[in-house]
Amino acid sequence: MSVTSSAPTTPATGAAGPAGDRADTGTALRPHAEQDFAAELTALAGADDRPRPPRWRLSPWAVSTYLLGGVLPDGTVISPKYVGPRRIVEVAVTTLVTDRALLLLGVPGTAKTWVSEHLAAAICGDSTLLVQGTAGTPEEAIRYGWNYAQLLAHGPSRDALVAGPVMRAMAEGRIARVEELTRIPADVQDSLITILSEKTLPVPELNDEVQAVRGFNLIATANDRDRGVNDLSSALRRRFNTVVLPLPASADDEVDIVARRVEQLGVSLQLPKIEAAEAELRRVVTVFRELRSGMTEDGRTKLKSPSGTLSTAEAISVVTGGLALAAHFGDGVLRPADTAAGILGAVVKDPGSDAVVWQEYLETVVRSRDGWQDFYRAAREAGAS
Ligand SMILES: Nc1ncnc2c1ncn2[C@@H]1O[C@H](COP(=O)(O)OP(=O)(O)OP(=O)(O)O)[C@@H](O)[C@H]1O
Ligand SMILES: [Mg+2]
Repeated sequence: MSVTSSAPTTPATGAAGPAGDRADTGTALRPHAEQDFAAELTALAGADDRPRPPRWRLSPWAVSTYLLGGVLPDGTVISPKYVGPRRIVEVAVTTLVTDRALLLLGVPGTAKTWVSEHLAAAICGDSTLLVQGTAGTPEEAIRYGWNYAQLLAHGPSRDALVAGPVMRAMAEGRIARVEELTRIPADVQDSLITILSEKTLPVPELNDEVQAVRGFNLIATANDRDRGVNDLSSALRRRFNTVVLPLPASADDEVDIVARRVEQLGVSLQLPKIEAAEAELRRVVTVFRELRSGMTEDGRTKLKSPSGTLSTAEAISVVTGGLALAAHFGDGVLRPADTAAGILGAVVKDPGSDAVVWQEYLETVVRSRDGWQDFYRAAREAGAS
C-alpha cells in the first residue's frame, strides 16, 4: 500500500526542502535544520564520494562531518553543530544504518533534540517527520488517523486514511523522530514495537499494511530526569541502541557551544549587534557549571546545588536575553546587569530553597572573586527587586 504525503519530494537542498513550501525560509522564525544549513548540506553531498546507505543523501562519514564540523577539500567550512565526543556521533550515525532505532538519552539541555533534528536533516533532508511525545499522545499520532468526513461518506479507504509522521517516514524511506518518548503512555509507546521489529504498520481496517521502505529508521529522545514517568518497556528498549549525550566536558566546550548558539539566535532573531560579550558569557557558564557540580572551579569550595537543571540550553537563553536587554535598553555592551536577572531566574526555580542556595553562592564565592564585583552588585539588585 502506498501512502500519499503532503510533503513534496523535492531535494532538501536550497530553500525548498521538503518543508520548504510551508514557510518562506527567509521569514520563518526558526528555519528547519535542512533549510538553515542547506548550503553546507549541498557542499557535503558534492564532496562526498563514500558509499551511501539506501536513500541516504550523505554517507555516514559526511553525516558525522556535518554534525561535528570540518573543512572540505574545496575549502568549504562545515560548522560544528554538536560539540562533544566524536565517537558518540559516529555510534549514533551507524546505528541508523542498522535495523535498530536510535534512542538519545541525557539530562535536559544536552542537545538530544538538536542532534536528532540535524541527523534527520543530513540523512534524509527532512527533519519534520516528528511526533512530540506527551502524556496525552494518542496512538493515532504514531500510527494513522482518519479523515472523518471521508470515512463517513465513503467508508474506510486509503483516501480516508491520514498517515502520521512515522507512517509517512516508513512509506518514503525517511527518518522519523519521536520526542520525549518516555512521556508517552506505555500502551501507546508499544505501538512502536511492531514498527521497529517487523518494519511494518498494519492497517486492520483496510486489511492492509504499510511496509517500511529502505532508508526508514527512527530517532527517539528521552530525558534522564523523566525516567520513571513512563518507563520504556523492555520489549521496546531492546529495539533501540541507546546513546547517552553527556554534559559539556569542560568550561571551554560549554562557552564554545553557548557562543555559537547565541550568535546564530542573534542573527535569526535579528538582534542588534552587540560588542564582543565573551567575558560575560564565560561568567554565565562558570556560574552554571559551579552550581550544577556543587563545587567552585578551583575545587576549593563546596556549594549546594539548586533544584533546577541549569542546562546549557538555559545558559544560552540567559545570554540571549541579556543581549536583547543590552541592545534595546543598554549601551550596546553586554554588562553584568543584563545577565544577572536571567541567571537569577534560571537558578531560583523554587523561591524557598533555591533562593538560599543562590544567596550563599553570592556571599561566599561571588563577593570576593576578582573582577566579579559588578556582577555581585547587579545580582544583589536583581534579587532585591
Ligand atoms: N554538546 C552540545 N553541542 C552543541 N549544542 C549544544 C550542546 N549541548 C547543548 N547544546 C545546545 O543546547 C540547546 C538545547 O538543546 P536541546 O533542546 O536539543 O536539549 P535536549 O537535550 O533536547 O533537552 P530537553 O531534555 O530539555 O528536551 C540547543 O540549542 C543546542 O544547540
Ligand atoms: Mg529535547
